Amino acid sequence: MTDYRTLRVALLGAGAVGSQVADLLLKHGDELADRAGAKLELAGIAVRNLDSKRDADLPRELFTTDAETLIVGSDIVIELMGGIEPARTQVLHAIASGADVVTANKALLATHGSEVFEAADQVGAEVYYEAAAAGAIPIIRPLRDSLAGDRVVRIMGIVNGTTNYILDRMDTEGADFADVLAQAQALGYAEADPTADVEGYDAAQKAAILASLAFHTTVPLDAVHREGITAVDAAMIESARHAGYVIKLLAVCERLTAEDGSESISVRVYPALVERTHPLASVHGANNAVFVQAEAAGDLMFYGAGAGGVQTASAVLGDVVSAARRHIAGGVGVGESTRANLPAVPIGHVITRYQITLEVDDKPGVLATVAGILSEGRVSIATVEQTVIEADQTTQTGGSARLVIGTHKAREQDLSETVERLAASGVVERVVSVLRVEGN
Ligand code: NDP
Ligand code: HSE
Repeated sequence: MTDYRTLRVALLGAGAVGSQVADLLLKHGDELADRAGAKLELAGIAVRNLDSKRDADLPRELFTTDAETLIVGSDIVIELMGGIEPARTQVLHAIASGADVVTANKALLATHGSEVFEAADQVGAEVYYEAAAAGAIPIIRPLRDSLAGDRVVRIMGIVNGTTNYILDRMDTEGADFADVLAQAQALGYAEADPTADVEGYDAAQKAAILASLAFHTTVPLDAVHREGITAVDAAMIESARHAGYVIKLLAVCERLTAEDGSESISVRVYPALVERTHPLASVHGANNAVFVQAEAAGDLMFYGAGAGGVQTASAVLGDVVSAARRHIAGGVGVGESTRANLPAVPIGHVITRYQITLEVDDKPGVLATVAGILSEGRVSIATVEQTVIEADQTTQTGGSARLVIGTHKAREQDLSETVERLAASGVVERVVSVLRVEGN
């Protein structure tokens, strides 16, 4: 075997992802050494509780509860604890101690990314985070390196495995939301607090990370518009299916160019309708997919496992090998580029298509009233479908009807003000749902 230099690797966390990273590091040590050009010595694994059950059979003597001491003297620190603290403190400690950091922690990077990257810049260290967005899918490196010579215009993707798993099972099997969420948790897809998944916080963190990289701009989490999937019910899924759509939780990051040439960005996460023929509609289970549209490269699509311990471990180990190569080659780490510093616009400025579902009085003039309100609100109708849901048995009038209105592209602010006027119009009994239509 080649006489490689040994690099000391400290692992913080041995949960769903960390236990698999440790297992692969130990099992494939020789192969990884050949790829990295250095022997990767797993010096220890810091956890909260030494007696917790692990997903892999790992040597007990490697475990410690003293992360701080383990970090000192390490060349590479892998942070897989999750959450903000103590992850933030330990990552900063690792950087200050001269280590490169590999992390999958999107919550940390989306909230304290600037602090972490600045700390790394100051000492010439590098922070690797391929697993922090879209699990096993290589998307950070393509945005950071492969597309460094291009201009990204738009990123649209399914970046949360848990919600895709839930929506997919509701769509394909009519499964119950709570039951499928429990299964996603058992399979290790969901965050410790699954609210992060179902309310869109996890996807928003990933969107902030992707948009920051793609647009060379620091995108704070509060600049990301976020809606989760808890309001999506079986009736909405059925109605989407009837109209030829599937509901997906999407992250959309867009570069907007005004008439005067000035640029801004929009970063948003919400459940949206996607045509059943669109490639995103066939992303099933906990898989993720990310479309990237770049000025020169055109459309690119990245697809694969967005969650899961061993799948995510693959991305983490890729980063460990990169970090090891950098250590061997020497030189300072590549910092994050934030030179463009584009402003993020509020959701009201977004332009997209919508599907509005209303329950209305089924009587003469109602459709004309609804059409008039839409027209006054500068919302142009593309399609209308009416279904009688409760008619008078004799006259076949006087009951209720369900109106499903598909719009042409409209400005979100115009659309939401129009929906408010519809709700107050006296002819609309209930606004059942308003969903954006994305995908082209
Ligand atoms: P888990 O909750 O399964 O594991 C967390 C680990 O960190 C546990 O081993 C825990 O120790 C340890 N830990 C937590 N707090 C402390 C602490 N204060 N001191 C020392 N150790 C601590 O998390 P995952 O493996 O699922 O996720 C790890 C990271 O990877 C997160 O940032 C997550 O967002 C990210 N990620 C996860 C994916 C997935 O599919 N699971 C996919 C992509 C990214 P103990 O075991 O003793 O409790
Ligand atoms: N909870 C996350 C998901 C894990 O479901 O996608 C991967 O980041």
